[in-house]
Amino acid sequence: MRDYEPYYTEDGSIGLYSYAEKDVFHSKFGALTEAWEKFVLPAKLDEFKYDNLKVLDVCYGIGYNTKALMSFLINHENYKKKNILQKLIYIVTVYANKIIKRNDCLLPYIDSNNTNKLSRFQIDCLDINEELVQLSPLFRTVKTPGEIYDSIVPQILACFDSYYSLRNVFVNFLSHFSPKNKKEINELLDLKFKNMHIEKEYKINSYVNYILMNSLAEYYKKDYPSKELIKMLREKKNQRFFDRSLIKYASFNRKWGYNKSSKYNLSTFLHNIYYATLSRRYKKMDFKTAESLFKVNFYVDDARKTILKLNEEYDLIFLDAFTYTKAPQLWTVEFIAELYRRIAPQGLLMTYSTSALVRNTLLENKFYVGNIYHNKTNKIIGTIASKDKTRIEHPLTPYEIGLCNTKAGIPYHDPNLSFDKKDIIELREYEFRHSDLMSSSKYMKIRSMKNE
Ligand SMILES: C[S@@+](CC[C@H](N)C(=O)[O-])C[C@H]1O[C@@H](n2cnc3c(N)ncnc32)[C@H](O)[C@@H]1O
Repeated sequence: MRDYEPYYTEDGSIGLYSYAEKDVFHSKFGALTEAWEKFVLPAKLDEFKYDNLKVLDVCYGIGYNTKALMSFLINHENYKKKNILQKLIYIVTVYANKIIKRNDCLLPYIDSNNTNKLSRFQIDCLDINEELVQLSPLFRTVKTPGEIYDSIVPQILACFDSYYSLRNVFVNFLSHFSPKNKKEINELLDLKFKNMHIEKEYKINSYVNYILMNSLAEYYKKDYPSKELIKMLREKKNQRFFDRSLIKYASFNRKWGYNKSSKYNLSTFLHNIYYATLSRRYKKMDFKTAESLFKVNFYVDDARKTILKLNEEYDLIFLDAFTYTKAPQLWTVEFIAELYRRIAPQGLLMTYSTSALVRNTLLENKFYVGNIYHNKTNKIIGTIASKDKTRIEHPLTPYEIGLCNTKAGIPYHDPNLSFDKKDIIELREYEFRHSDLMSSSKYMKIRSMKNE
């Protein structure tokens, strides 16, 4: 974690600051909350009839958007699960398949005629940063305010005079490592324990990180987590951000391999039968069933290269790149055109950006574009786009479209999807200087004079 600074966001989930990009990965108001409110909830999956879904997570990072989506889908599919006997048959089939060495855990659910059949979801995760992708399932899952209060906060606070002295300890500790970015980090570390609040329905399902870990082990051909990563996870200063039991599970997998340890297989098998038949928690979906819902693919490379290799049609696209002023590569007309080519006719693209530039880039690519409103405060918090006009609930207003047609909306270009950041910015600056379009400030002034 040399290049990043982890901090707690206001909902208690962990956010990251990148020294290289001089930018935050996550909103300081709540990394996990943002994933739900800007990416998962706007997809309105509970209203949309789906049998299968294909999802593209552009800029997976440490995976909040994918994790929130998986949690939603597991909870939703949970209602469709079969009765106990069918579950039992399913577990036995999975185990039998293991014995005869059919290694695909993507077994179809038994009784395909049943209308309650569980769905299948493919999630393609793109990110350039290998270390973060590997670390993604190991981060501590957020706690509820009740849990924070009951477990850590009173104990920690009891050791200090006040919350401020606690904060100062963190700040001093951190400034030791990062004198240059002290001010910014100090701001991020302005821990507000009282505000740490994650909605109950936004919690990450406890299976999700294990499913991601198994998918990563498949991607890295069992060489996961890398040795350097394990070494880093053992460093004391990093421990508070990672989940010990997940690290143990990952180290166990790496050493023994999931399929190699018959003892482990047997205990998993018995454990599943126990949950399916005896446990009070039988109402929950068992792990193997939950895992069989997903096919998570990782592509660790520049998304501009990866996208050209993908020939899927996606129902949902999450675009969560760094802000365009700092990293324009994934906001260009040409990159968005590749996303347009790969989105299903009724598919939805979601992004946190509400800028005229990003919206105009979507419009230039023939997307229908609209606002994402916060489900409670009714503030505009992001942008949604689709090829299908009827899927945009809140289209851009004439005022917002007008703003896209000012200088502020001039898009970035990257003709071969290979320009570096500096060239992309310079190309736009040239166009900006030679453009006859109205400036956004003049546009806003005129519109406000007209009282619009
Ligand atoms: C704002 S963060 C995404 C946060 C992420 N969605 C999460 O839940 O943690 C932006 C991400 O874009 C990745 N990135 C930057 N340039 C990229 C590129 N050219 N191709 C793919 N990923 C890129 C970074 O590694 C970083 O993880």
